[in-house]
Amino acid sequence: MGEKKGGIVRKLMFGVVGLFGLFACGIAGMHFVSAGKLAETVEVEVADISVPDGDRSAMERGKYLVNHLMGCRECHGDDLGGKVIMDNGAMGLWYGPNLTRGKGSKLADYSSKDWMRALRHGVGKDGRRLLLMPSEDYVNFGDDDMAAVVAYFRSLPPVDREDQGISLGPIGKMLVATGQIPFAFEKIDPKARRPEAKPGPTREWGAVLIGSCTGCHGTGLSGGKIPGGDPKWPQAANISPDKETGLGQWSYEDFVKAMREGKRKDGSAINEAMPWKAYAGMKDDDLRALWEYIKAAPAKAMGGR
Ligand code: HEC
Ligand code: HEC
Repeated sequence: MGEKKGGIVRKLMFGVVGLFGLFACGIAGMHFVSAGKLAETVEVEVADISVPDGDRSAMERGKYLVNHLMGCRECHGDDLGGKVIMDNGAMGLWYGPNLTRGKGSKLADYSSKDWMRALRHGVGKDGRRLLLMPSEDYVNFGDDDMAAVVAYFRSLPPVDREDQGISLGPIGKMLVATGQIPFAFEKIDPKARRPEAKPGPTREWGAVLIGSCTGCHGTGLSGGKIPGGDPKWPQAANISPDKETGLGQWSYEDFVKAMREGKRKDGSAINEAMPWKAYAGMKDDDLRALWEYIKAAPAKAMGGR
């Protein structure tokens, strides 16, 4: 009888050890896949642009785009000298690097081509594909606007701050290894034609600006869980013109109130995961352009993204 019992215990033990083994292999596998994916480098053909360094109106334009449309400060810090975006056991440490020319920044000798490699292709100077950096949101901006942005960055007071880099936690590794947090590089079609739109209160210009919203609200504008977002954030709202769950019943004035005051049509406060404080400084024409685009987009039920 003793033998029989021992046999069962041994079998059980074996099973448990086996499970642990499988689990450990899984974790180790994720670790290697994600580490490999992060270290992999790619080559991209980058079209250079000419940057009007020191040109006052270009720097003003760049400042406006960065502050009120592109959201760079959300991830690179209020002084653009780098910040911790997220730091928890599961996701790991996510750091938005120093974008000034101060000590500890990798960008001191960034050429205009290096800037375009990062902003239009999602690839660092060393050929690494950048993680979480939403380059796909900026690809529709024309050369003049991109050059203005670079001119603005180069004019910033240098901030001396070491980059901390990204070190993924177990869930972060799993999300990268399985492609649930994809690289911008993989989402960008380098051959896609840029729209010819000029700034103005038009749907066409809205199609350029909407890139600032789609990272969170989805390319179909229907919202849902934000990929790579802070787990504390609420789901992004449905901003497609769906009558039930979206903005189908909203007027332009309701939209302006949301963007400038952070209040919904019913007066309730919008969570600050939605960067409305940055959008509050947006020009009327740009708000109108976004609205024209949103109104004409297909209505979608909440969450299909
Ligand atoms: C959602 C967060 C987020 C936003 C918004 C964002 N970035 Fe980034 N950016 C990152 C992260 C994270 C990295 C580091 C990625 C890595 O090292 O894999 C990065 C990297 C970069 C790099 C490359 C630095 C290097 O290592 O060579 C540049 C340049 C850059 N960002 C510029 C910008 C600019 C300009 C904007 C606004 C137009 C912007 N970023 C908006 C998160 C963001
Ligand atoms: C960093 C993520 C993020 C970005 C970028 C973003 N949003 Fe949002 N937005 C959210 C979240 C999250 C909510 C829901 C907030 C809540 O539940 O209180 C929201 C809510 C809204 C609402 C309120 C709708 C409602 O019914 O609650 C509007 C309008 C809106 N966003 C428009 C925009 C537009 C236009 C842009 C681009 C210019 C944009 N958002 C960019 C995250 C974002």
